[in-house]
Amino acid sequence: MTNLLEIYRCEICGNIVQVMHPSNGELVCCGKPMTKLEAHKKEDEKQEKHVPVFLNDKEIQVGSEPHPMIEEHHIEFIQTITEDKRQLITKFLDVNQEPKMIINCSQNFNKAIEYCNIHGLWES
Ligand SMILES: [Fe+2]
Repeated sequence: MTNLLEIYRCEICGNIVQVMHPSNGELVCCGKPMTKLEAHKKEDEKQEKHVPVFLNDKEIQVGSEPHPMIEEHHIEFIQTITEDKRQLITKFLDVNQEPKMIINCSQNFNKAIEYCNIHGLWES
């Protein structure tokens, strides 16, 4: 069984998927059940470079100290979501880009998540 917007990873090939329509089935990749990613939170170790921070109502940065953005260790994406989960925006990042996203709309986004290629999923 899946829930809306959950994120799953295949531990064999590295595929990452997000649930856009929940159902009762199990997500399988490479012949094995996929792992549901549980987001780390601000109490966790290494939070200062991983928890998404709203610098203001239009700008989100990954980490109170910006996260590294090198080939071996970088943020793959940042996503922000409205409280009712009806709207979300995802920004996919390239190596050497700043670990930030700008929100160009007037909706009230109040939650953010990000995915680090080494340290996994984090939420604000
Ligand atoms: Fe990291």
